[in-house]
Amino acid sequence: MMNIILLGPPGAGKGTQAARLQAERGMIHLSTGDMLREAVAAGTPVGLKAKEIMARGELVSDAIVSALIGERLDGSTDSGAIFDGFPRTKHQAAALEILLAERGRQLDHVIELDVDENELVKRITGRFTCAKCGAGYHDTFRPTKVEDVCDVCGSTEFKRRPDDNEDTVRTRMAEYRAKTEPILPYYEAKGLVRRVDGMAAIEEVSAQIDAILDGSA
Ligand code: AP5
Ligand code: MG
Ligand code: ZN
Repeated sequence: MMNIILLGPPGAGKGTQAARLQAERGMIHLSTGDMLREAVAAGTPVGLKAKEIMARGELVSDAIVSALIGERLDGSTDSGAIFDGFPRTKHQAAALEILLAERGRQLDHVIELDVDENELVKRITGRFTCAKCGAGYHDTFRPTKVEDVCDVCGSTEFKRRPDDNEDTVRTRMAEYRAKTEPILPYYEAKGLVRRVDGMAAIEEVSAQIDAILDGSA
């Protein structure tokens, strides 16, 4: 059982890589961003609180996201977990340590996707997902094989995130730099950080991550 964190700014490729690892390795993909978007769509109390904060590109409270992660870990029969977009603050990093320890899990790697921020705006503004199955695409970097048809489920309906506009992306990046990057030294001190070149093509990033998980890098 391997538990890993994918760390990197908006558009770094966390979700793309986590979805692949889940499909290939029976690991559970835990994205607090996806959980919050589901809560917003369902209009739950958490969703009502999170909606405007997310639209501005700011961080939702540590207590809310930590509780979401705990709920998903309970009862999961995965062969490991991939944390995508969590933890994002020092407080969340401390919460994760407790959540894992309480469930007899431990953290194996913190994989940092190293990227050029100027390129990220292109990635984010070109991103879209299948409205039916959630498969992720990009106008230029990962188009559907047949135009306007989902490769995975054949649906012809797609959606774009409301926070994927240039203004909000700048706020999301500033939040990353101010609150999330500072958790790296904490994991570096534990010897857990592995860096991969997030600017490489999707398949190359996958190969670098696989090498780390398989112990060959
Ligand atoms: P969240 O959903 O986590 O968004 P994010 O961190 O801004 O990251 P993204 O999902 O934008 O990027 P990604 O790294 O997953 O990139 P992707 O793989 O899609 O959070 C959203 C909001 O929720 C936050 O702003 C906050 O308000 C709230 N929130 C969430 N978690 C929280 C927490 N823990 N605490 C507090 N608040 C929280 O790739 C992007 C695009 O690029 C895709 O189109 C993809 O096809 C393409 N692509 C991927 N890799 C490559 C590559 N190597 N080359 C070329 N293109 C690529
Ligand atoms: Mg994502
Ligand atoms: Zn689909």
